[in-house]
Amino acid sequence: MNFEKKILITGGAGFIGSHLVRKMVNKYSKYLIVNIDKLTYAGNLNNLKEIENKPNYEFINIDICNEADLSKLFKKYLFDGIIHLAAESHVDRSISNPKEFILTNVVGTLNLLNECKLQWKNSENKCFYHISTDEVYGSLGDVGYFHENTSYDPRSPYSASKASSDHLVRAYGHTYNLPIKISNCSNNYGSFQFPEKLIPLIINNIKQHQPLPIYGKGENIRDWLWVEDHANAIDLIFHQGKLGETYNIGGHNEWKNIDLVHLLCDIMDRKLGNVKGKSRGLITYVKDRAGHDMRYAIDASKIEEELGFKPSVDFKEGLEKTIDWYLENEEWLTNVTSGDYQNYYSKHYQQ
Ligand code: NAD
Ligand code: TYD
Repeated sequence: MNFEKKILITGGAGFIGSHLVRKMVNKYSKYLIVNIDKLTYAGNLNNLKEIENKPNYEFINIDICNEADLSKLFKKYLFDGIIHLAAESHVDRSISNPKEFILTNVVGTLNLLNECKLQWKNSENKCFYHISTDEVYGSLGDVGYFHENTSYDPRSPYSASKASSDHLVRAYGHTYNLPIKISNCSNNYGSFQFPEKLIPLIINNIKQHQPLPIYGKGENIRDWLWVEDHANAIDLIFHQGKLGETYNIGGHNEWKNIDLVHLLCDIMDRKLGNVKGKSRGLITYVKDRAGHDMRYAIDASKIEEELGFKPSVDFKEGLEKTIDWYLENEEWLTNVTSGDYQNYYSKHYQQ
């Protein structure tokens, strides 16, 4: 088959990646979407069942740290664009095992940049698009927002590794004229998120009648965006964003952790037919995360004004949909929380 474009998506079996792959495969039948993923604990091909047999989709199990495999891949396909999401993504794991984050997030990104540099002698109509996080900007006080020109100030091994990869992407743009784009997004939530991150962890623990661990006083603030809105923004930036530019993505939706957990408890009690207040009784304050960033908040006016981005889903509606999905997808949840998850969970929350 002759495809209009060949697009490589890395980390497409993960949370955001699987939403993006599903969207791109369904929306662009004339593109070939090649998904490479190492299938770590966070990668799951069950996330992609809906599109796995589509003629414009291919999956290859590749570790982006493996240069020989990447070189073979780039010899086989002449890609028009790369949307790079593969990463180690959980802050708590980066605190206990930083090296894996440097290998995948920094060295893996470098390997992909080198392949593109080699392949794209003529870089016309090509694009290396790096998916990053607002955590590179550090931590805010009570007021202010992260803008695209906010100085980098990463404070966790995770955010330091993402900051480092952002710098490498920009350096390749500047030094070798590689056609690059970067976006930095706030916290995502929605279906298929691994239950180590706050929202699915709380939903799962309420289901299991387990304690709901709140770090510190629960006063830290995160700015939440519906994952499909992130995928929409990525599609928009990939097709219409300017080369060399950075776009912040967010939905103006700041929540104190404890307020968010209360809301989740109340929605879950209603859906499960519990006595009102039952789930709130499971809330347990635990030792704070080391170096816990206080507040993240995105100024998304650039992507709104230049590309017309607008989140499509209101937070309460998104949480209802997310909770429904976790309640209806018992098998998915059981699969991802068996084996290693139990080890991780008991080690992490016993500390
Ligand atoms: P995730 O942990 O759910 O998925 C990461 C995927 O990358 C997994 O499928 C995993 O198997 C794969 N992967 C890991 N190491 C790999 C390697 N060495 N080679 C190939 N594949 C590998 O993460 P996510 O939440 O979907 O995040 C995706 C991207 O978006 C990351 O780059 C993250 O930094 C960024 N991001 C995430 C959020 C968020 O709230 N989750 C917000 C902003 C930006
Ligand atoms: P998380 O989902 O890990 O995202 P990030 O740290 O990348 O923002 O955490 C969101 C917030 O919830 C963060 O302030 C840490 C807090 N948190 C808890 O209070 N308890 C938990 O068990 C987890 C996983 C997170």
